[in-house]
Amino acid sequence: MKPRIFVTRRIAQAGLDLLTPHCEVEVWPGEEPPSREELRARVPGCHGLLTLLSDRVDEELLAVAGPQLRVVSNHAAGVDNIDVAAATRRGILVTNTPDVLTETTADLAFALICATSRRLVEGVDWVRAGRWKTWSPLFLLGQDLFGATLGLVGLGRIGRAVARRAQGFAMRVLWYDPSIPAGSVPAGLHRCDTLDELLRAADVVSLHVPLTPATRGLFDVAALRAMKPTAVLINTCRGQVVDTAALVQALQEGWIAGAGLDVTDPEPLPADHPLVSEPRCIVLPHIGSASTATRGRMAELAAADLLAGLRGEPPRHPVNPEVLAGRAAAGAGC
Ligand code: DGY
Repeated sequence: MKPRIFVTRRIAQAGLDLLTPHCEVEVWPGEEPPSREELRARVPGCHGLLTLLSDRVDEELLAVAGPQLRVVSNHAAGVDNIDVAAATRRGILVTNTPDVLTETTADLAFALICATSRRLVEGVDWVRAGRWKTWSPLFLLGQDLFGATLGLVGLGRIGRAVARRAQGFAMRVLWYDPSIPAGSVPAGLHRCDTLDELLRAADVVSLHVPLTPATRGLFDVAALRAMKPTAVLINTCRGQVVDTAALVQALQEGWIAGAGLDVTDPEPLPADHPLVSEPRCIVLPHIGSASTATRGRMAELAAADLLAGLRGEPPRHPVNPEVLAGRAAAGAGC
């Protein structure tokens, strides 16, 4: 009997093509995620789940799925939507899709850095509104990137890829990441010992941290107030790293010069939210990894790791490798 898989949204065909010869696959057909009730109704009896960042996979859902569930393969680098500890307790392997989206997400972060610093969307809106009457020496003045200081909060794969782009723009690059020992980073990047030190020096602050209890709400009133009034904040990691109410106040009261957000809290952000109408804020609908090639690679990787987990083979990106060790000790395959 083929293992049963539930894929919680339509993904690139390359991923489904890997799964269908080996599994009985059900794909959620909606444009929007399955509701909690719909998710609960579909997971019982599944051996594998291929999930997205919009699906909350918690203790209760894992219990509803049943003891035959072996793998939850997340079609994302972040796994903050999954209770990994609960999966580990149940011997369920969790996998994710880092690496393949690094450069694509860094491209988008850098696009937001350019667009926010040079006020591109305000310019587009001006033209679209029929307000472009003349060239003007003092109109839509932004901040130069050439020679400016970029402050990276988080220096993982994506942070480093953004740093490489910034060096091409002749920016000075600072970073703050308490998880990285000094001396283990590319030359030419300057480490800050505290977040405050980085915030006080940077013209562009770009966030590249996973969402954890330590990073949730990291950008609060105090952090935003520590930034230069001419600086911009870029967020392409997770919306909950920034206190949304504090950011609205920071923009409205001019504590900072602008924000470029690919992620927000809440997500999606309602159209009547103050951040959407704030002229100095660019909001994108979480499209950091949204290139055709990268979404194809994410789907393939998520599917391949799901199959590996079902077969008892090592996946490329296990999030809780201790489950594999436990299975090996128990001599369990699929
Ligand atoms: C991820 O993979 O975590 C991204 O946010 C999705 O693009």
